[in-house]
Amino acid sequence: MCGIFAYLNYRVPRTRKEIFDTLVKGLQRLEYRGYDSAGVAVDGPWKDVKDDNNNSICLIKKRGKVKALDEELYKKDSMDLEEVFDTHFGIAHTRWATHGEPSAVNCHPHRSDKNNEFVVIHNGIITNYKELKKYLSSKGYEFESETDTEVIPKLIKYVYDNCERDDISFSTLVERVIQQLEGAFALVFKSIHFPDEAVATRRGSPLLIGVRSKYELSTENIPIQYNNGHFKEALKEKNSRNRSDSSTGLHSVGDGKAVEYYFASDASAIIEHTNKVIYLEDDDIAAVAAGKLSLHRISRLAGEDPSRAIQTLQMELQQIMKGNFKAFMQKEIFEQPESVFNTMRGRICFDTNTVVLGGLKDHLKEIKRCRRLIMIGCGTSFHAAVATRQILEELTELPVMVELASDFLDRNTPVFRDDVCFFISQSGETADTLMALRYCKDRGALTVGVTNTVGSSISRDTVCGVHINAGPEIGVASTKAYTSQFVALIMFSLMMSEDRLSLQMRRLEIMNGLRVLPELIREVLALDDKIKSIADELYQQRSLLVMGRGFNYATCLEGALKIKEITYMHSEGILAGELKHGPLALIDKQMPVIMIIMRDACYTKCHNALQQVTARQGRPIILCCQDDPEIAKNAYKTIELPQTVDCLQGILSVIPLQLMSFHLAVLRGYDVDCPRNLAKSVTVE
Ligand code: F6R
Repeated sequence: MCGIFAYLNYRVPRTRKEIFDTLVKGLQRLEYRGYDSAGVAVDGPWKDVKDDNNNSICLIKKRGKVKALDEELYKKDSMDLEEVFDTHFGIAHTRWATHGEPSAVNCHPHRSDKNNEFVVIHNGIITNYKELKKYLSSKGYEFESETDTEVIPKLIKYVYDNCERDDISFSTLVERVIQQLEGAFALVFKSIHFPDEAVATRRGSPLLIGVRSKYELSTENIPIQYNNGHFKEALKEKNSRNRSDSSTGLHSVGDGKAVEYYFASDASAIIEHTNKVIYLEDDDIAAVAAGKLSLHRISRLAGEDPSRAIQTLQMELQQIMKGNFKAFMQKEIFEQPESVFNTMRGRICFDTNTVVLGGLKDHLKEIKRCRRLIMIGCGTSFHAAVATRQILEELTELPVMVELASDFLDRNTPVFRDDVCFFISQSGETADTLMALRYCKDRGALTVGVTNTVGSSISRDTVCGVHINAGPEIGVASTKAYTSQFVALIMFSLMMSEDRLSLQMRRLEIMNGLRVLPELIREVLALDDKIKSIADELYQQRSLLVMGRGFNYATCLEGALKIKEITYMHSEGILAGELKHGPLALIDKQMPVIMIIMRDACYTKCHNALQQVTARQGRPIILCCQDDPEIAKNAYKTIELPQTVDCLQGILSVIPLQLMSFHLAVLRGYDVDCPRNLAKSVTVE
């Protein structure tokens, strides 16, 4: 987790205030990735900053959210906010603690020494940090934080102090450092020895670079410079930072022209500045010197593309703004009529009753021949697999396994060449899911990504896939991504069953359900006031159970997850079939229970569960179909939903629980978009 943002202006004069504003805004866009502390490194000197010994790089760090850092930046009286920098490089970070408690000292940027010779921001985990720390301590380096990250600035200083300094470039130093690192990282470095230069690299954690220039960019592909493992080659590039006539590297038309670079963990922090971006691949090293961006790798792997394309982002700024909503989560819940429509857009032809998922069509034959489908994800994305398993089994007539990525790996689950493995992930960066992907790839299975993030690691590392097109999801609690994953998997099952005559009636029924789905979602959203009034009654409770079965069991799991993660109430999703095997003991007139009882094949069985609850004086709040007097008479309260096809009902039944969790969290006084201890993108194991 953690959010990385850095900004380099080359020959674009910016005041210190403008630089701060850009860095802080960038961090705010990434705050969903972690928000326990934040910091920046900018050019100084800056007299009243403690510990900086009047350094030419200043570190300003603050525990708490980005807002606290923002206030801290403007507290510095001795700082000239109007000072203009023709060229400047600033780095910034918002943290989600993994090693060491949230505090200013554990916060990034981390530094090599008291003179701040090298400073670095990091997203990921360095798994061999203890060995490195021991080694560097034995060489006299003193550590000030409890983090794994701090070994990185110390290590680069160690490499720098022990090389022929005149000959070494900043990117070569970084290349040497990452050869010693194990684990996952996205890193951006700044140094007093390489003023106005930037070096960034990644392995396993996301990092992209935005480029803005009023001059047309001279290239669409940036060639990679390979060092073939020999540092001498890299050394030949000495002073490359001062050279402006290199034939490689990205620059505006004519060297020395004004350009700005933005480095970020994801595109939401870049889009307001530029839509031209370069996604770095694992072990790429990007260096900016004298305004020119060049890409380096140690050696070329077989089949590897020797260049990186400058891509155009399709996202718009408006998509990541909150608008009139109180929280991103609320906005995203209300966006669902459009987001599910966008998932289907251009892929379903209602006239011919066909579905075409462009990213899968070339592999369809192979998928149809497979031994089984394995659906892998974490949290909400796992629930999307649970929600669609039954219809996948029914329409594909294949065995379908649903797996939590962490457990799948813990069990060393057998995987075969004729398995097809789906990796479901909103962010496309979740470490557990990504590791499961590598595990399945190594065993020769066909890998399919279902992600919401173009250019993410999972979308790039899978052989084929579906982009769910839900639009950027900023709220930490996933909502619209869930319903779009759900729809994408249903569409996959329809695509798989197109030639099955016996399934045509069923397919038609589902297609008709999908056609009106956005409208039905709007009807459910109109129940918001009623749901809020139920939340008014419940918000002081300690616990909330959610019970159902069949197609709606996933809704129970997902609803309970939403409630626990943003309201901090205990909440459990219970399979109604298991009620009598234990959970019934929890039922009394105090325990709030939400039951989902829709008119489907499990209706009678759910009705029995309801009897068991009311017989113990339970007071169930029931999500049911409109006009169901039989259910209404046994309910303490009902939330009546429009009825749709059984396998799509879970899309409608989850929305009241998303709304309920939102209202409960607001009533309990919590920050809905930034639940404690969590982050949006879980890039650590
Ligand atoms: C819950 C939630 C998490 C994520 C999980 C996987 O609201 O958002 O449970 O679903 O961390 O994340 P992705 O889908 O990005 O792989």
